Amino acid sequence: MANAAREQWSSRMGFVLAAVGSAVGLGNMWRFSYLAAENGGAAFVIFYLAITLVVGLPVLLAELVVGRGAQRSPVRALGHFGGPAWSWLGVVFVTAGFLILSYYGVIAGWTVRYALIVLTEGFGSDIANRFDDISRGWDAFGFHALFMIGTIAIVGHGVKGGIERTAMVLMPALFAIVVGLAFYAATLDGAPAGYAYYLSPDFDKLLSFDVLKDAAGQAFFSLSLGMGAMLTFASYLGRDQHLPNESLTIAGADIGIAFIAGLVVFPLIFALGLQQQVGGSTVGALFITLPSAFAEMGGVGRLVGVLFFVALVVGALTSAISLLEVVVSSAIDGLGWTRTRAAWLFGAAIALLGAPSAWSTDVLGVVDQVANNLFLLGGGFALSLFVGWAMPDPVGEVRAGAEGVRWFFLWRTLLRLAVPAFLALVLWDAVPETAAAVLALFG
Ligand code: TRP
Repeated sequence: MANAAREQWSSRMGFVLAAVGSAVGLGNMWRFSYLAAENGGAAFVIFYLAITLVVGLPVLLAELVVGRGAQRSPVRALGHFGGPAWSWLGVVFVTAGFLILSYYGVIAGWTVRYALIVLTEGFGSDIANRFDDISRGWDAFGFHALFMIGTIAIVGHGVKGGIERTAMVLMPALFAIVVGLAFYAATLDGAPAGYAYYLSPDFDKLLSFDVLKDAAGQAFFSLSLGMGAMLTFASYLGRDQHLPNESLTIAGADIGIAFIAGLVVFPLIFALGLQQQVGGSTVGALFITLPSAFAEMGGVGRLVGVLFFVALVVGALTSAISLLEVVVSSAIDGLGWTRTRAAWLFGAAIALLGAPSAWSTDVLGVVDQVANNLFLLGGGFALSLFVGWAMPDPVGEVRAGAEGVRWFFLWRTLLRLAVPAFLALVLWDAVPETAAAVLALFG
């Protein structure tokens, strides 16, 4: 039976904001914009939206169903419904959490550093070199460690006192900042050109498989799917919650913030004629382009820059919390550790695991690729098969708290056939490509 002492969210709003906090992060502001820039703007956006709705949403609901149904962390939850063989999928999830947070913390460290620089001294003229210094070596590692300490401290305070409280305060602030920045960006000279690039598709690109693959990876990353983060958060829910509605709210907020972040980033880039810089996009592009934009805008640029990077830090923090919580809840349930001990020991291990990414942005890029293309897409593939075919009564679990809903059949059919078929197709291409990228790193 479920553990009577298990922690619970104190309110529906607390859960929703924590889950949205997990979803909204660097993925929405940094990864989404750079992938959109690289993949023909609107072409990518259209794919991303379609995949989020048709593939992401059913998988999100599947995670919520498994988590709430089992009232356990991923390893235990999958074992509970599927037997020991399926607990291995839970182990893969926890491994993915380790891997993703190890480099996510490094990028988050850059954003902390950037926020401080814009606030105090401003960027000089040579931003590309400055980024080189900041993004690698002890500088990068130090801020990554600092960011991890903050994440650990919050997770250590528990579901209600740490995770929920943080989300209740920070998420509304993040919405306000991003929406405010979008209004400001609309007044810039480059706004029309930026919107045009962002919102009118390049149909040559629309048809390419590469765009599809990037869009699928992004849909999973942005919704925090494929490694049990949403599953873990749902395990602290009661059975009266309307899970289909929650999944729509979470996905809607995630898409909304990604879209609005694009309305901020593209006008800024085009206002200063910096689109060339982003064209050959790498992980670092926005970290060089946007400060250049802020620097050229004078005093206002400074304020806008501070707000922008503070929003990034906030988004990164609430996302990192969910990544660490997957690992911590598994240690609590599976190893019998206290929350404090699990948070500090595993948090420290993840911080150390980030060292290679902190010393090389090439390594960071490859780890990002491995995490997304193999772990998240593979994890989503396995999870959809699990809920579609192996779990005893997933429909009964969705129905609890959502009696009036009628599209269970569609959901289950998507999970059984369409979602795994689509993900298998994407993986077919993504796996060899990712393997090649890993080999190239060592070769
Ligand atoms: N969704 C977050 C973002 O967009 C990142 C994230 C948090 C994540 N938890 C996750 C990604 C779990 C994959 C799985 O920045």
